[in-house]
Amino acid sequence: MERFSKIKQELAHYDQEQVLAFWEELSEQEQHHLLDDIERVNLAEISIISRKLLSNHSPERNNIRGVPYDKLEDFTETQLHRYKERGLELIRRGRVAVVLLAGGQGTRLGHEGPKGTFDIGLPGHESLFELQAKALLKLCKKTGCRIPWYIMTSPANDWDTKDFFKKHGYFGFYPDDIMFFLQDTVPTLNSAGKLMLKTKSSLSRSPNGNGGVFPALKSSGALDDMEQRGVKWLFQYNVDNAMIKLADPVFVGYAEEKDSPIATKSASKRNPEEKVGVFCLIEGRPAVIEYSELTKEESGNPEMMNAHISIHLFKLDFVKAVADQPMPYHLASKAIPTLDERGEEVKPSEPNGYKLEQFYFDLFPEAESIAVLQVPREKEFAPVKNKSGEDSAETARAMILSNANQDQIRYRLGGEGL
Ligand code: UD1
Repeated sequence: MERFSKIKQELAHYDQEQVLAFWEELSEQEQHHLLDDIERVNLAEISIISRKLLSNHSPERNNIRGVPYDKLEDFTETQLHRYKERGLELIRRGRVAVVLLAGGQGTRLGHEGPKGTFDIGLPGHESLFELQAKALLKLCKKTGCRIPWYIMTSPANDWDTKDFFKKHGYFGFYPDDIMFFLQDTVPTLNSAGKLMLKTKSSLSRSPNGNGGVFPALKSSGALDDMEQRGVKWLFQYNVDNAMIKLADPVFVGYAEEKDSPIATKSASKRNPEEKVGVFCLIEGRPAVIEYSELTKEESGNPEMMNAHISIHLFKLDFVKAVADQPMPYHLASKAIPTLDERGEEVKPSEPNGYKLEQFYFDLFPEAESIAVLQVPREKEFAPVKNKSGEDSAETARAMILSNANQDQIRYRLGGEGL
């Protein structure tokens, strides 16, 4: 078979022939399947990643400074009013779309199923998806317009996510305005930098990280759809922030006035060890350094206490311009189910390899400027990451209920309430 020998030769060139270990045992159909799988892999790129992995080399970063930012609490009532009205007007004119990152696997939370289906124990037992759908619907009603909602899934949770929305009647949101789109997957590597098998006839693959969002928005046709709708700003957020202010009009107005390709919310870091990315300028360009990659000196630097809380507004033009840009891969050490030498399935409890992830914020340096708005975390950032303790359902619930109480009090005193 000519195709087989060509692929075998290429695998040999990159020292990855182990994926053919069970070739002789496969049916013809399975052999075709495996070859298809291998052909999807960019072996040259994998070889570079694998070398990086083995050399344990971390990139050097020079000339790092804190990023300039505005503070929401410093705005006057007049400013707040101006931003809000401007934001509402843009939403009303259909200039804002919402993008939800929901392709992750939520391993730390230990919840079976997509993270958005998680009930954080509020009195109404709403799932994270329901909280978001209802908030968005409220904003649609307030502005009298339709806000398109693009939801990124991955092969592992795509079916369950769509099924959940369908079963719940899309929580009253307009089904025609919800678009699910799939992120891509990439092969996993064992600790020696070799491709891994999931079965005898398929490679082990995992979602390509949330950096898959821009290419997937493009290849799914979502960017074209936004263009046709006249969208200017993409409001992007993480599925696990239980206090997300969806398409927050003040933030939209702020972004419009600042006119940078990216506007972002940040919060003051709880302490240097908190597991959040941080905003900074590297060589004068906007950047985020992920918590897993911060050096000790960087974590301790008082200028690096502005947390990345994953709430952004991107100009559609910016996303279109960077959607095809190559992005680096980050290596996440994980316990990955695979086959042993005898072809038996193994489900390790300890990390045995790496998942390759891209981070969308690695494209931030492509923007000539970024507008950063620091917000009070107790009002806008309640991430549900862990089963218990910090950043869990319990802490998120407490924050929501405390805010609701304060709103009730304000409402009774005549202010703007729930
Ligand atoms: C993320 C940020 C971190 C930030 C923190 C705030 C990244 C890489 N890190 O950390 O800087 O301080 O949130 O809460 O964004 N996702 C996908 N596909 C994937 C992987 C993830 O859609 O392949 C989605 C997840 O569903 C989630 C979001 O991306 O909505 C964040 O992903 P996760 O990998 O859990 O990052 P965190 O550790 O939470």
